[in-house]
Amino acid sequence: MNVAEVFKNNEKWIAEKLSINPDYFSDLAKGQSPEFLYIGCSDSRVTAEDLMGIQPGQAFVHRNIANLVNNVDLSVMTVLNYAVRHLKVNHIVVCGHYNCGGVKAAMQPADLGILNPWLRNIRDVYRLHKDELNAIADEDARYNRLVELNVQEQCVNLLKTAAVQEAIVHRDLTVQGWVFDIRTGRLIDLKIDFEKILKDITEIYKLY
Ligand code: CO
Repeated sequence: MNVAEVFKNNEKWIAEKLSINPDYFSDLAKGQSPEFLYIGCSDSRVTAEDLMGIQPGQAFVHRNIANLVNNVDLSVMTVLNYAVRHLKVNHIVVCGHYNCGGVKAAMQPADLGILNPWLRNIRDVYRLHKDELNAIADEDARYNRLVELNVQEQCVNLLKTAAVQEAIVHRDLTVQGWVFDIRTGRLIDLKIDFEKILKDITEIYKLY
């Protein structure tokens, strides 16, 4: 795929959309009211809209390496606040994926420069769940479980924010932890018990 092809594809895409609905782009230009905030990995194989079967306008999207919700990352915190407080999304999704290079890298003893502080968030997830993870003998199974636990902890990080706490009190907002299985294409709901987690952490993290 070269750059010229991209622009040709774009023309084709415009024609397709307009053939179905001549007002497609003028409607899009009127504004957005997405139901989902999707926080996922930057991995080129894990595209939010494709795997969810949704169209432009349906999800506000933030992607970074290993789908982290870091308290001091201004980018993810800004996206989160805008999506929850202004766009008033109904669901926040943290979607990890098996075969995640970021999670794999965090399991290796290697100096990766600027990636070190970023990936340390995943090492912290490992430390929190060390007993469970170290009890898994098979390395691939341990890797898969860390992908899942990383999603869970990023969801917990969402629950620690004032914007999410406020929205849960005043309207319907759900937090969803999902994993995309690249090997099958399947989206897996981790069915994390957020009410229980919220109760457990409220004593320390209550802001609102
Ligand atoms: Co990844």
